[in-house]
Amino acid sequence: MKISVIGTGYVGLVSGVCFAQMGNKVTCVDIDAAKIAKLEQGIIPIYEPGLEDMTLENYKQGTLKFTTDANDAIASSLISFIAVGTPMGEDGSADLQYVLAVAKKIGQSINDYIVVVDKSTVPVGTAEKVRAAIQAELDARGVDIKFDVVSNPEFLKEGAAIKDFMHPDRVVIGADNEKALEVMRELYAPFMKHHDRFIAMDIKSAEMTKYAANAMLATKISFMNEMSQICERVGADINKVRNGIGSDSRIGYSFIYPGCGYGGSCFPKDVQALAKTAKDFGYTPRILDAVEEVNYAQKYVISNKVIGRFGEDLSGKTFAVWGLSFKPETDDMREASAITIINELTCKGAQVVAYDPKARHEAENHYLKGNQSVSYVDSKYDALKDADAVILVTEWQEFRSPDFDEMKKLLKTPIFFDGRNQFDKVKMQKMGFEYFQIGVN
Ligand SMILES: NC(=O)c1ccc[n+]([C@@H]2O[C@H](COP(=O)([O-])OP(=O)(O)OC[C@H]3O[C@@H](n4cnc5c(N)ncnc54)[C@H](O)[C@@H]3O)[C@@H](O)[C@H]2O)c1
Repeated sequence: MKISVIGTGYVGLVSGVCFAQMGNKVTCVDIDAAKIAKLEQGIIPIYEPGLEDMTLENYKQGTLKFTTDANDAIASSLISFIAVGTPMGEDGSADLQYVLAVAKKIGQSINDYIVVVDKSTVPVGTAEKVRAAIQAELDARGVDIKFDVVSNPEFLKEGAAIKDFMHPDRVVIGADNEKALEVMRELYAPFMKHHDRFIAMDIKSAEMTKYAANAMLATKISFMNEMSQICERVGADINKVRNGIGSDSRIGYSFIYPGCGYGGSCFPKDVQALAKTAKDFGYTPRILDAVEEVNYAQKYVISNKVIGRFGEDLSGKTFAVWGLSFKPETDDMREASAITIINELTCKGAQVVAYDPKARHEAENHYLKGNQSVSYVDSKYDALKDADAVILVTEWQEFRSPDFDEMKKLLKTPIFFDGRNQFDKVKMQKMGFEYFQIGVN
């Protein structure tokens, strides 16, 4: 099948590459000319395990192309995916300007039947807006060309995106006619040879499914973080509580880790966008509002522990920060807890020496750019030299089993703030660390 994917970010690039891998002819389009130029030179703009090899392989074979020319790419495809960003607007709603700009472009470009697929996370009712934007352009051109709009929300996880896309738990398609549904079934059939995971539904329910999934996951995290706050106050240990409740099959162990708050490009904005939609329709979403409120507060828990230990004035203190990305196996720093923690500490006079296996360039050039109190190093041990304490923010695998003796030698004082509860408190204390966790006294 001939496919165009408009928007070559985390979702667009992964989707395009995976469709190409299954033998489709894919053109990935972006307005960011520098990004497209890099991709054409074989430079992958994001870190995602497995993505580079698969991209290069398909590019060499000619199944995958990159361009800034949306017209050509759209005009020659049977399916066009909209995979641009839907960032949070000022009032918390999803900003649809990029999605609708692509819809307009599609209306200007098509000469034949096309299935337009909303893959971006968009509020209920967006497919109708996309349809209207395309139709308005066709009317302006004075042409009668048939097209369908379907919703196909994406559930991939950054850090495991290729695996998730190639072996999806489910493919949700919202469609209002059989023809478009059949095209989508055919496209996704190679991804579900093992057993059928194609879930067809109406368009609004598909749009809502994505928000409901992210809201549920964010709720689990905030719930557990709230439990951790109660544990600290009553003298219970959240790690033991987690084991105790996770063993209940109705609850399960996933997404109930206490931590320093969720970040990323999805949960924060999607929870708020869903809350805004609910309010627009006259409903007060009490759970969603609380989920966000708990998460906001949780991002300050670690910095408050540091301040509790070292005092309000942190001038003259240096802290090593391990991990900057919002989660391991990605360089994505959107809404990362590290941003809040580092800004909070440096605001109080501290110096920070940060190390992350992949996200250094994002921090330096974007998210912490201009913060003169932060410096960066290329190894986790280099960050520790003469630091007053180490703060673990992102649970990359290389932090799981560090050389504790080496750490003690390098740190000025062996103080460890663990934002991801990676270690056993008693063992850490026996080794001579002053060790702080979340949800444990
Ligand atoms: N990142 C994730 O893990 C994830 C997972 C599921 C769903 N989503 C959703 O997918 C959508 C895309 O997210 P992302 O993380 O890939 O975003 P991203 O910011 O990484 O990529 C978006 C890309 O779209 C490009 N773009 C913007 N306007 C364009 C236009 N008119 N024509 C062509 N390209 C244009 C941008 O230059 C950018 O490269 C969002 O709605 C997001 O909520 C993201």
